[in-house]
Order: sequence, then structure tokens, then C-alpha cells
Amino acid sequence: MPRIAYVNGRYFPHRRAAVHIEDRGYQFADGVYEVVGVHKGRLIDEKEHLDRLERSLAELSIPKPMARGGIRIVLAQIVRRNLISDGLIYMQVTRGVAPRNHAFPTNSKPSFVVTARPIKPFDREAILKGGKVITAPDIRWKRCDIKTISLLPNAILKQKAVEAGALETWMVDEEGFITEGTSSNAWIVTKRGEVVTRRTGPEILAGITRLKVLAIAEKQGLSFVERAFSKEDVLDAEEAFLTSTTSFVKPILQIDGQTIGSGTPGKLTVALLDWYERHMEGDE
Ligand code: PDD
Repeated sequence: MPRIAYVNGRYFPHRRAAVHIEDRGYQFADGVYEVVGVHKGRLIDEKEHLDRLERSLAELSIPKPMARGGIRIVLAQIVRRNLISDGLIYMQVTRGVAPRNHAFPTNSKPSFVVTARPIKPFDREAILKGGKVITAPDIRWKRCDIKTISLLPNAILKQKAVEAGALETWMVDEEGFITEGTSSNAWIVTKRGEVVTRRTGPEILAGITRLKVLAIAEKQGLSFVERAFSKEDVLDAEEAFLTSTTSFVKPILQIDGQTIGSGTPGKLTVALLDWYERHMEGDE
């Protein structure tokens, strides 16, 4: 399998692709990123990911590295050159290279890097095995709506999950409400059959999978609401799941070692995964 990366206008073998040591992404985590899924050679929700990328850039006053049409050509090239059928595209834009100084440079050019890697084709049974989550205080900053590459709190809290044999850490705000996972959005289904996820705002990333699952819930006539919920609400719920580009819709069966609902993947969770798969197939 070839591995080709795009760096600032050129394609390189992955092992030779590099950016400058004074890139502000390296020194200040001054940049943003997107992860886009590829299913059967097609980019999933490319438009929504590019909308979010442009929003993240605008929020940080980082210029766009190129027009959207140009970005789309690079993404298509990266899929083609890496022979990706099922995989993940990673793209990152930083404020660029400048002598180290906290204030924004006046004349830097954004750095733009795109890579891709294959993943195993969509495996419904494997996804439906689900997993556990743990909880921990949300130690991130106050602009979690920006998809910044500054992910140290997320990495620390994901590591805690790994060490606990869990899939994810659900982070808890100062009022005791769950914000989201370190790289995914958090959901429950109440005993009344209401699908619940936190509303968007500076406390969470507006996940594209979240957006699509809400649209599916609406289309299928499910009862759903965007509101904050606590760990106690999770323990009182019938079902819980998480959503992300890399995990799709994944059942969560335990929180901090306590069983959620029946301890098996919930009915609505499974239905939402199946509808989401159809969405990826381009049917919905
Ligand atoms: N993470 N919340 C956070 C903090 C995330 O980092 C992500 C995605 C999500 C889900 O967003 P989406 O549905 O658009 O993937 C929610 C990506 C996959 C990552 O960092 O690898």
C-alpha cells in the first residue's frame, strides 16, 4: 500500500513528509484539523467537514490555505494516491512558520498537511460489541467548539480510559453534566425512549456524526432533545452510545464500572447505527 502525504503544495512519500521546526502548530498548537471518513472510496459528509474546518479557521483568524475547490482536489488526490477504499483522511492547517513569538505573525502562510490511512471495512458486529466509559473532570479550555490540534487534555483523559480498559472518557463540567468524550459525542436514550445529546455551544465540538444522527432521528420520527445530562441520568437511562467519524454509532454498556440499562446494545442504538450505515452508503 503506498503512503503519500500532501504538504504545502506537494505530494511526498509519507516517511519523508515534514514541516518546519518553527511551525506554530509545533510550538503553540496554533492550528486546526479535521478527520473525514472514507467509505467504499467516497468521502463521508465532506461538505460538513469543510464547513467546520472553515469555521474553526475563521474563529482563530487563520487564513484558509486555499479555496474549497482546491482542498477538495487535494482530498480526492490523497484518496486516489493512497488507494483508499475504507479509511480516514486527516487534514491539518496551522498558522504557519514564524520566529517564536506568542502574538500572531503578520505575514505567515498557513501550513496545510493532508494524510490518509486505510481502516478495516465497516464491521457492524464489531461496532455492536460496544464498550465502557469512565468519567473525569473536563479539564479543557472554554472554546471546545473549535477543532484545534491542542489536544493534550483529550490525550491525557483518553489514556485514563485505555488504562481502565474503557473506550472513552466522558468529561464532566463543573455543574456535574457530561460534556462529551475525548474524541466523540455522548448520548443516552431515556426510559421514555427520548434520544438525548448535549446541545452545541463552546463546551463541546459539534460532531458531524452527531449532526447526522440527529437528522436521522428527526427523519425517523424518534423523540429527541438536545440537553445536558449527568452520570446519574446515564445510570437511569435505557441506552447510551457515542458518535464520531471513527466510531460511527457505538453502544456504551457501562459507566465507571456500573451497568447501563440491560448491559447490552440498546434497540434504538442499533437502529441508529443501521440508519447511519445507510447514510454512509449514500442512501439517506
Ligand atoms: N474526533 N468531540 C470531540 C472532542 C472530537 O474530537 C470528535 C472527533 C467528536 C466527534 O466529531 P465527528 O463526529 O465530527 O467525528 C466529538 C476525531 C474523530 C478525532 O479527533 O480523531
